[in-house]
Amino acid sequence: MEKTIDESVQGQALTLDQKEGNNRKLFIESYGCQMNFSDSEIVASILAKEGFNTTQNLEDADLVLVNTCSIREKAELTVRKRLEKYNAVKKINPKMKVGVLGCMAERLKSQFLEEEKIVDLVVGPDAYKDLPNLIEEVDAGRNAVNVILSKEETYGDISPVRLQSNGVSAFVSITRGCDNMCTFCVVPFTRGRERSRDPQSILQEIDDLVAKDFKEITLLGQNVDSYLWYGGGLKKDFDKASDFQKATATNFAKLLDLVAIKYPKLRLRFTTSNPQDMTMDVIEVMAKHPNICNYIHLPIQSGSNRILKEMNRLHTREEYFTLIDNIKKLIPDCAISQDIITGFPTETEDDHQDTLSLMEYVKYDYGFMFAYSERPGTLAGRKMEDDVPEATKKRRLSEIIAVQRKHSEAIHKSYIGKTIEILIEKESKKSDAHWSGRNSQNIVAVFPKENYKIGDFVMVQVNDCTSATLIAEAIDYSENN
Ligand code: 5AD
Ligand code: SF4
Repeated sequence: MEKTIDESVQGQALTLDQKEGNNRKLFIESYGCQMNFSDSEIVASILAKEGFNTTQNLEDADLVLVNTCSIREKAELTVRKRLEKYNAVKKINPKMKVGVLGCMAERLKSQFLEEEKIVDLVVGPDAYKDLPNLIEEVDAGRNAVNVILSKEETYGDISPVRLQSNGVSAFVSITRGCDNMCTFCVVPFTRGRERSRDPQSILQEIDDLVAKDFKEITLLGQNVDSYLWYGGGLKKDFDKASDFQKATATNFAKLLDLVAIKYPKLRLRFTTSNPQDMTMDVIEVMAKHPNICNYIHLPIQSGSNRILKEMNRLHTREEYFTLIDNIKKLIPDCAISQDIITGFPTETEDDHQDTLSLMEYVKYDYGFMFAYSERPGTLAGRKMEDDVPEATKKRRLSEIIAVQRKHSEAIHKSYIGKTIEILIEKESKKSDAHWSGRNSQNIVAVFPKENYKIGDFVMVQVNDCTSATLIAEAIDYSENN
């Protein structure tokens, strides 16, 4: 799944009940996918109960936690660089403890302690509830490691602290782990087997967000379409469930329907969808509810059937086209975005052309494109030679980026003159006189603030666009109707 974000986010002051007389400062930052950002909010919540206040100032911290990503080598190098920075700060503040969370922690385990002397604590994505004990160990002067992956853990019982929230949109995690075993991907090894969260706890979290006036939620998982609640346990063990459990199970279409009906005013999004798991009933539920955004992130990775097979993507290019056709039939204005990898082992010029022609067929609204990065432990890492020269990977990458840019620009231009609904999220980065928000299709629009405020839904007319943004102005609906 996951949008990798190369920026970090720091925590903000907490308002939860805290252990009296034990006010320590936690600096927590996250790299990688939304799941990591969401997990950091769970970690902040667990540690708030242990008396940790978050700080945005690294120099002040008693405990520094970095939530890490392993998806590409570059993501890991970024974290190593951050550890160098912590090292420099530790010279000024020698009592500061450093912990590594997330995918790199899971991948490298105690090896991390040997490789990076600054690290005191290594905690994998399923072991965050053990943090209070692990920190006690660290306080007693010992290094601590817990990288046990779980069959059950979904953190459904923990109410996340919203870090750096805009107060408008929030992520709600619904599944953890991934069973798909794409041959390039480290995620199944770092986040374990797939399991789903109890729908009651999902609804409870959304209730809480609605009470706090949030306007948009994104249901989050490595593979949301594979969501299946049958009373707890791994997805792969569903076959062993009782007849009653099977009859009363909740799949993703049901969950989406449930949430859309219960919160008609809330905007709903979800990510990420895997083509092989996305069913017609999900598309039908999307088409039925106006509050579910018309946007699907639907990674393809490659347009070549041969490469899709080598990647263990369990669908063909033709099946993907059928899915796209069905989406467009039921939801004509549905935006679709992609993830594509260039230079997977053995990728030829013909395979690359297949990717380009697939892009021409789909005409994606947006894309996240990467050069293949061999990951240790994955099937491709173990069995396939990383044989496409770096320069070729990069050239193919720039070609697909150029095609994507052309398509995104054409789609943005087609909005000029149209009226769309925007949910205001924040001030425009470029002008403090403008608001910034997104439409249902996830396109960013900016427009003059007038008397509107963050969290308002506003009808705007699009007057112009750049390659990434629609330039608009609010229209007074009462006058236009
Ligand atoms: N190399 C390059 N890109 C990768 N991704 C996952 N693993 C790798 C890898 N080894 C990309 C995929 C995935 C996205 C989150 O990251 O496109 O969908
Ligand atoms: Fe996504 Fe496949 Fe990786 Fe799972 S294994 S996270 S579905 S790319």
